[in-house]
Amino acid sequence: MYRARPADGCVWITGASSGIGRGVALELAKRGYTVIASARRADELNAVCEEAKGLSGRIFAEPCDITHRDEIQTLVERITQNHGPIALAFLNAGTFFKDRPGEFGGDGFRKTFVLNVDGSINCLGPVISAMAAQGRGQIAVNASLAGYGGMPRSIAYSASKAALIVMCEALKFDLDKRGLTLQIVNPGFVKTPLTDNNDFPMPFLIELDDAARRICDGFETAGFEICFPRPLVWPLKLINLLPYSLYFPLMRWITKGG
Ligand SMILES: NC(=O)c1ccc[n+]([C@@H]2O[C@H](COP(=O)([O-])OP(=O)(O)OC[C@H]3O[C@@H](n4cnc5c(N)ncnc54)[C@H](OP(=O)(O)O)[C@@H]3O)[C@@H](O)[C@H]2O)c1
Repeated sequence: MYRARPADGCVWITGASSGIGRGVALELAKRGYTVIASARRADELNAVCEEAKGLSGRIFAEPCDITHRDEIQTLVERITQNHGPIALAFLNAGTFFKDRPGEFGGDGFRKTFVLNVDGSINCLGPVISAMAAQGRGQIAVNASLAGYGGMPRSIAYSASKAALIVMCEALKFDLDKRGLTLQIVNPGFVKTPLTDNNDFPMPFLIELDDAARRICDGFETAGFEICFPRPLVWPLKLINLLPYSLYFPLMRWITKGG
């Protein structure tokens, strides 16, 4: 399957103003790629571009809100015109919106789906069309290990990430036929502004630079899934194979009562 190289075109990253997206943008610039960094905060994107000065690749800011579907088609066209074909798209923007304790299906729940699921779909459509026209391209969607199965305190977030995982599994059949590469990225806990808000223990928390390197190494491999860290990945994969009569007590025990 196709793997993007710096000479093939540019890399588009959503959610590049902070956290994982920012770390991956800088890591790819170190590896010689031209990176187009998108998010809503233009000042933070400009700071990432500044930080990349002196690296072998470059970063250019293209602010956007991925929940505004109509903007994305135009943005993808502008990136292609200004920077050449998008060889790799890392659709990473997403977050965890909280609801009031005990509330189900509130504003936070809906915002989680609008950003994590609809926002990723808004980007996937134009990117797939552009790459299909180019005849090649690589797409990686950032989900989470939280999408492997239902977890306490993570109803909307886990469900939104599970939706991305299953959507990409299904989409892969179609993109394989078109010669486009699709990968899913499932990180465990990574130290970012998102996890800085967490008020529960985060086992095997990984530093941002380490996570960015693992993700960029994963872009170069043949595998569909880029997932880490192993001590969290394998227990979670195994727990999700168990019958529910074992899954629920075990998950309750692991998460210290839910
Ligand atoms: N950190 C972890 O432990 C972890 C683990 C697994 C998966 N993930 C996933 O990794 C991704 C990045 O998370 P992070 O931890 O790096 O969090 P973060 O630092 O909060 O980054 C989130 C990024 O998304 C952008 N964003 C938010 N709303 C947007 C919108 N409407 N349009 C465009 N961009 C938007 C934010 O920029 P603006 O505010 O400037 O728009 C920011 O750049 C998320 O999908 C998250 O679910 C994180």
